[in-house]
Amino acid sequence: MFIVFEGIDGTGKSTQARRLAEHFTSQGRTVVLSREPTDGPWGTLLRNSAITGRLSPEEELATFLKDRRQHVLEKIAPSLAAGHVVILDRYYFSTMAYQGSRGFDPLKIRSDNEVFAPVPDLLFILDLDVDSALSRIGSRGDTANEFEQRANLQRCREIFLSLKDEPFAQLIDANRPPEQVADSILTSLT
Ligand code: TYD
Repeated sequence: MFIVFEGIDGTGKSTQARRLAEHFTSQGRTVVLSREPTDGPWGTLLRNSAITGRLSPEEELATFLKDRRQHVLEKIAPSLAAGHVVILDRYYFSTMAYQGSRGFDPLKIRSDNEVFAPVPDLLFILDLDVDSALSRIGSRGDTANEFEQRANLQRCREIFLSLKDEPFAQLIDANRPPEQVADSILTSLT
């Protein structure tokens, strides 16, 4: 079973991914909980670039793909082959949304990824309006930089929402307390 959590920053993906992992663990399943960008060399470079100055859009897109190739090869595919439950906090839908919002074609990003990255069994899209998301991450969105961030997040949210009718996707209203969100997630598994 391969489950992915997506959504803009501040929607609570990490919390829900961890809770779902605990749920499967308590049922005696072996769970591999992971995230992108990863903690490997490419993922680390991406996280650092957010602090030290961003890569060019082309370099950034290429680096997310290198990070993901390694993630699929070394962790995701072997864990699925071993019959483990794999839960990811972000995957290639984030590349569609974030690099899509930087001008690349989300559909092309999707098809380039699906050449090597397995499609998940379940995609939880945690949806929250941008104002609430920004206030959760402690930003008001009113400086010039934050204004740009707000517009980008709005485009990201729209790209995530464009996936809601995929057969493997479940849209989850994230504008609720974490316990309620977790209940919806568990309910949609049954
Ligand atoms: P995030 O999950 O927010 O990491 P952290 O919790 O450590 O801050 O991811 C970092 C950023 O990377 C986030 O703003 C989304 C972005 N991102 C992309 O732009 N493209 C991608 O393919 C992925 C996986 C993430």
